[in-house]
Amino acid sequence: MKIGIFDSGIGGLSVLHEAYHQLPDQEYIFYADTEHVPYGLKTPEQIIGYATEITQFLIDKGVDAIVVACNTATSVAIKELRKRFDLPILGMEPAVKPAVEGTEDKRIMVIATPVTIREDKLKDLLHRVDEQHRVDLLAMPRLVEFAEREEFESPEVTDYVNSQFSSYDKSDYCALVLGCTHFNYFKPAYRSFFGENTLLIDGNDGTVRHLADVMGLSISPDKDMKLDEKHNILCLRNTEYFFSGKEISDEETLKRLQRLHLRLEEVRNI
Ligand code: DGL
Repeated sequence: MKIGIFDSGIGGLSVLHEAYHQLPDQEYIFYADTEHVPYGLKTPEQIIGYATEITQFLIDKGVDAIVVACNTATSVAIKELRKRFDLPILGMEPAVKPAVEGTEDKRIMVIATPVTIREDKLKDLLHRVDEQHRVDLLAMPRLVEFAEREEFESPEVTDYVNSQFSSYDKSDYCALVLGCTHFNYFKPAYRSFFGENTLLIDGNDGTVRHLADVMGLSISPDKDMKLDEKHNILCLRNTEYFFSGKEISDEETLKRLQRLHLRLEEVRNI
Protein backbone atom coordinates (compact mmCIF):
# COMPACT_ATOMS: atom_id res chain seq x y z
CA MET A 1 0.00 0.00 0.00
CA LYS A 2 1.20 3.54 -0.74
CA ILE A 3 0.58 6.10 2.00
CA GLY A 4 0.95 9.86 1.53
CA ILE A 5 1.96 11.82 4.63
CA PHE A 6 2.17 15.59 4.61
CA ASP A 7 2.95 18.51 6.88
CA SER A 8 4.11 22.10 6.59
CA GLY A 9 7.62 20.88 7.34
CA ILE A 10 9.65 18.34 9.25
CA GLY A 11 7.07 17.83 12.02
CA GLY A 12 5.30 15.24 9.89
CA LEU A 13 8.47 13.15 9.87
CA SER A 14 7.59 12.18 13.43
CA VAL A 15 4.42 10.52 12.12
CA LEU A 16 6.32 8.85 9.29
CA HIS A 17 8.89 7.71 11.84
CA GLU A 18 6.20 6.07 13.94
CA ALA A 19 4.84 4.46 10.77
CA TYR A 20 8.32 3.01 10.11
CA HIS A 21 8.07 1.33 13.49
CA GLN A 22 4.52 0.08 13.24
CA LEU A 23 4.01 -0.42 9.49
CA PRO A 24 7.53 -0.99 8.14
CA ASP A 25 6.47 -2.81 4.97
CA GLN A 26 4.36 -0.08 3.41
CA GLU A 27 5.48 2.44 0.81
CA TYR A 28 5.38 6.12 1.71
CA ILE A 29 5.42 9.49 0.07
CA PHE A 30 6.38 12.21 2.50
CA TYR A 31 5.64 15.81 1.55
CA ALA A 32 6.89 18.80 3.56
CA ASP A 33 5.62 22.19 2.41
CA THR A 34 8.90 23.90 3.21
CA GLU A 35 8.05 26.93 1.07
CA HIS A 36 5.06 27.76 3.26
CA VAL A 37 6.10 26.67 6.74
CA PRO A 38 4.95 27.76 9.34
CA TYR A 39 1.25 27.08 8.79
CA GLY A 40 0.60 28.09 12.40
CA LEU A 41 0.90 31.75 11.50
CA LYS A 42 -1.11 31.64 8.23
CA THR A 43 -4.80 32.28 7.58
CA PRO A 44 -7.25 29.37 7.31
CA GLU A 45 -7.82 30.22 3.61
CA GLN A 46 -4.10 29.98 2.87
CA ILE A 47 -3.77 26.68 4.72
CA ILE A 48 -6.80 25.19 2.93
CA GLY A 49 -5.23 26.23 -0.38
CA TYR A 50 -1.88 24.57 0.39
CA ALA A 51 -3.48 21.41 1.78
CA THR A 52 -5.73 21.03 -1.28
CA GLU A 53 -2.81 21.37 -3.67
CA ILE A 54 -0.70 18.85 -1.74
CA THR A 55 -3.55 16.34 -1.54
CA GLN A 56 -4.02 16.53 -5.32
CA PHE A 57 -0.25 16.10 -5.78
CA LEU A 58 -0.21 12.97 -3.62
CA ILE A 59 -3.26 11.53 -5.39
CA ASP A 60 -1.53 12.09 -8.74
CA LYS A 61 1.40 10.07 -7.34
CA GLY A 62 -0.96 7.15 -6.73
CA VAL A 63 -1.36 7.06 -2.94
CA ASP A 64 -4.08 4.86 -1.41
CA ALA A 65 -4.56 7.02 1.68
CA ILE A 66 -3.36 10.33 3.07
CA VAL A 67 -2.33 11.30 6.58
CA VAL A 68 -2.46 15.01 7.31
CA ALA A 69 0.47 14.89 9.74
CA CYS A 70 -0.26 18.40 10.91
CA ASN A 71 -2.66 19.44 13.65
CA THR A 72 -2.88 22.94 12.20
CA ALA A 73 -3.88 21.84 8.69
CA THR A 74 -6.27 19.28 10.14
CA SER A 75 -8.01 21.86 12.27
CA VAL A 76 -8.85 24.12 9.33
CA ALA A 77 -8.76 21.96 6.19
CA ILE A 78 -9.79 18.36 6.91
CA LYS A 79 -13.51 18.82 6.21
CA GLU A 80 -12.82 20.53 2.91
CA LEU A 81 -10.32 17.84 1.85
CA ARG A 82 -12.74 15.03 2.64
CA LYS A 83 -15.48 16.82 0.73
CA ARG A 84 -13.32 17.22 -2.34
CA PHE A 85 -11.36 13.98 -2.51
CA ASP A 86 -12.52 10.43 -2.52
CA LEU A 87 -9.91 8.40 -0.59
CA PRO A 88 -9.23 7.84 3.10
CA ILE A 89 -7.84 11.08 4.57
CA LEU A 90 -6.78 10.87 8.21
CA GLY A 91 -6.17 13.95 10.27
CA MET A 92 -4.46 14.65 13.57
CA GLU A 93 -5.75 16.39 16.62
CA PRO A 94 -4.08 16.98 19.98
CA ALA A 95 -4.30 13.75 21.99
CA VAL A 96 -6.52 15.28 24.67
CA LYS A 97 -8.81 12.26 24.92
CA PRO A 98 -6.11 9.74 25.94
CA ALA A 99 -4.65 12.37 28.28
CA VAL A 100 -7.98 12.96 30.05
CA GLU A 101 -8.89 9.28 30.12
CA GLY A 102 -5.45 8.08 31.19
CA THR A 103 -5.02 10.43 34.16
CA GLU A 104 -7.04 11.31 37.24
CA ASP A 105 -7.20 14.68 38.81
CA LYS A 106 -4.25 16.90 38.04
CA ARG A 107 -4.11 19.38 35.19
CA ILE A 108 -3.21 18.72 31.56
CA MET A 109 -1.37 21.18 29.35
CA VAL A 110 -1.84 21.17 25.57
CA ILE A 111 0.82 22.94 23.52
CA ALA A 112 0.09 23.69 19.86
CA THR A 113 0.28 26.39 17.19
CA PRO A 114 -1.83 29.56 17.51
CA VAL A 115 -4.14 28.37 14.69
CA THR A 116 -4.83 25.01 16.35
CA ILE A 117 -5.54 26.75 19.64
CA ARG A 118 -7.84 29.33 18.06
CA GLU A 119 -9.90 26.99 15.87
CA ASP A 120 -13.27 25.49 16.81
CA LYS A 121 -12.08 21.94 16.23
CA LEU A 122 -10.06 21.93 19.45
CA LYS A 123 -12.78 23.79 21.35
CA ASP A 124 -15.32 21.16 20.25
CA LEU A 125 -12.96 18.39 21.33
CA LEU A 126 -12.51 19.97 24.78
CA HIS A 127 -16.22 20.42 25.07
CA ARG A 128 -16.69 16.69 24.44
CA VAL A 129 -13.91 15.23 26.57
CA ASP A 130 -12.75 17.77 29.17
CA GLU A 131 -15.76 17.60 31.45
CA GLN A 132 -13.79 18.60 34.54
CA HIS A 133 -12.03 21.54 32.84
CA ARG A 134 -8.59 20.17 33.55
CA VAL A 135 -7.01 21.27 30.27
CA ASP A 136 -4.94 24.43 29.70
CA LEU A 137 -3.88 25.59 26.23
CA LEU A 138 -0.58 27.21 25.36
CA ALA A 139 0.73 28.33 21.95
CA MET A 140 4.42 27.74 21.26
CA PRO A 141 4.90 28.94 17.68
CA ARG A 142 8.65 29.48 17.94
CA LEU A 143 9.28 25.77 18.37
CA VAL A 144 8.32 25.27 14.71
CA GLU A 145 11.00 27.72 13.66
CA PHE A 146 13.60 26.09 15.96
CA ALA A 147 12.71 22.63 14.61
CA GLU A 148 13.06 23.73 11.00
CA ARG A 149 16.56 25.00 11.87
CA GLU A 150 17.35 21.65 13.54
CA GLU A 151 17.96 23.57 16.75
CA PHE A 152 16.68 21.22 19.44
CA GLU A 153 18.91 21.68 22.47
CA SER A 154 20.33 25.21 22.32
CA PRO A 155 20.17 27.65 25.27
CA GLU A 156 17.63 29.68 23.23
CA VAL A 157 15.34 26.64 23.01
CA THR A 158 15.64 25.97 26.74
CA ASP A 159 14.99 29.65 27.56
CA TYR A 160 11.99 29.77 25.25
CA VAL A 161 10.43 26.58 26.61
CA ASN A 162 11.04 27.58 30.23
CA SER A 163 9.73 31.11 29.72
CA GLN A 164 6.54 29.86 28.03
CA PHE A 165 5.90 27.52 30.95
CA SER A 166 7.02 30.01 33.62
CA SER A 167 3.58 31.20 34.69
CA TYR A 168 2.42 27.62 35.41
CA ASP A 169 3.22 25.52 38.45
CA LYS A 170 4.77 22.33 37.11
CA SER A 171 3.61 20.30 40.08
CA ASP A 172 -0.01 20.89 39.00
CA TYR A 173 0.45 18.95 35.74
CA CYS A 174 0.17 15.22 35.20
CA ALA A 175 0.40 15.39 31.38
CA LEU A 176 1.71 17.51 28.56
CA VAL A 177 0.02 16.94 25.19
CA LEU A 178 2.16 17.72 22.15
CA GLY A 179 -0.47 19.17 19.82
CA CYS A 180 1.89 19.96 16.98
CA THR A 181 3.98 17.37 15.18
CA HIS A 182 7.02 19.66 15.19
CA PHE A 183 7.05 19.59 18.99
CA ASN A 184 8.19 15.96 19.26
CA TYR A 185 11.82 16.94 18.71
CA PHE A 186 11.91 18.87 22.00
CA LYS A 187 10.86 16.16 24.46
CA PRO A 188 14.08 16.47 26.52
CA ALA A 189 13.35 20.19 27.16
CA TYR A 190 9.80 19.45 28.40
CA ARG A 191 11.07 16.57 30.49
CA SER A 192 13.67 18.73 32.16
CA PHE A 193 11.06 21.38 33.01
CA PHE A 194 8.31 19.04 34.23
CA GLY A 195 10.46 16.23 35.67
CA GLU A 196 9.81 12.51 35.47
CA ASN A 197 6.22 12.37 36.72
CA THR A 198 4.48 14.25 33.92
CA LEU A 199 3.38 12.16 30.95
CA LEU A 200 4.39 13.44 27.51
CA ILE A 201 1.64 12.47 25.08
CA ASP A 202 1.79 12.86 21.32
CA GLY A 203 -0.74 11.75 18.72
CA ASN A 204 1.60 9.69 16.56
CA ASP A 205 0.98 6.25 17.98
CA GLY A 206 -2.79 6.72 17.82
CA THR A 207 -2.64 8.13 14.29
CA VAL A 208 -0.62 5.22 12.94
CA ARG A 209 -2.86 2.68 14.69
CA HIS A 210 -5.88 4.41 13.21
CA LEU A 211 -4.26 4.29 9.76
CA ALA A 212 -3.62 0.55 10.15
CA ASP A 213 -7.21 0.06 11.18
CA VAL A 214 -8.72 2.03 8.30
CA MET A 215 -6.49 0.37 5.71
CA GLY A 216 -6.71 -3.16 7.17
CA LEU A 217 -2.96 -3.38 7.86
CA SER A 218 -1.32 -5.32 10.69
CA ILE A 219 0.91 -3.56 13.17
CA SER A 220 4.43 -4.98 13.32
CA PRO A 221 5.05 -7.21 16.35
CA ASP A 222 8.53 -5.61 16.52
CA LYS A 223 7.18 -2.07 16.67
CA ASP A 224 9.23 -1.16 19.72
CA MET A 225 12.48 -2.43 18.30
CA LYS A 226 15.02 0.35 18.02
CA LEU A 227 15.55 1.69 14.50
CA ASP A 228 19.28 2.11 14.20
CA GLU A 229 21.19 4.10 11.65
CA LYS A 230 21.23 1.15 9.29
CA HIS A 231 17.49 0.68 9.54
CA ASN A 232 16.89 4.34 8.92
CA ILE A 233 18.96 4.22 5.79
CA LEU A 234 16.93 1.25 4.64
CA CYS A 235 13.72 2.97 5.63
CA LEU A 236 14.47 6.03 3.58
CA ARG A 237 14.37 3.67 0.62
CA ASN A 238 10.69 2.83 0.78
CA THR A 239 9.84 6.51 0.92
CA GLU A 240 9.83 9.20 -1.72
CA TYR A 241 10.47 12.59 -0.12
CA PHE A 242 9.20 15.87 -1.58
CA PHE A 243 9.77 19.41 -0.34
CA SER A 244 7.02 21.65 -1.80
CA GLY A 245 6.72 19.51 -4.92
CA LYS A 246 10.44 18.93 -5.51
CA GLU A 247 11.70 15.39 -5.14
CA ILE A 248 14.59 15.06 -2.72
CA SER A 249 17.50 13.13 -4.15
CA ASP A 250 20.58 15.13 -3.19
CA GLU A 251 22.93 13.62 -0.67
CA GLU A 252 22.89 16.59 1.71
CA THR A 253 19.10 16.69 2.17
CA LEU A 254 18.86 12.90 2.45
CA LYS A 255 21.51 13.05 5.19
CA ARG A 256 19.47 15.76 6.92
CA LEU A 257 16.38 13.53 6.81
CA GLN A 258 18.37 10.66 8.31
CA ARG A 259 19.66 12.94 11.07
CA LEU A 260 16.09 13.96 11.86
CA HIS A 261 14.96 10.33 11.98
CA LEU A 262 17.81 9.57 14.37
CA ARG A 263 16.75 12.46 16.60
CA LEU A 264 13.17 11.14 16.57
CA GLU A 265 14.44 7.69 17.47
CA GLU A 266 16.42 9.12 20.40
CA VAL A 267 13.45 10.98 21.85
CA ARG A 268 10.73 8.42 21.01
CA ASN A 269 10.41 7.01 24.51
CA ILE A 270 11.29 10.02 26.66
N1 DGL B 1 3.45 20.58 12.32
C1 DGL B 1 2.30 21.36 12.31
C2 DGL B 1 1.27 20.96 13.35
O1 DGL B 1 1.21 19.82 13.73
C3 DGL B 1 2.33 22.81 12.03
C4 DGL B 1 3.52 23.64 12.30
C5 DGL B 1 3.46 24.95 11.54
O2 DGL B 1 3.72 24.93 10.34
O3 DGL B 1 3.15 25.98 12.16
O4 DGL B 1 0.46 21.74 13.77
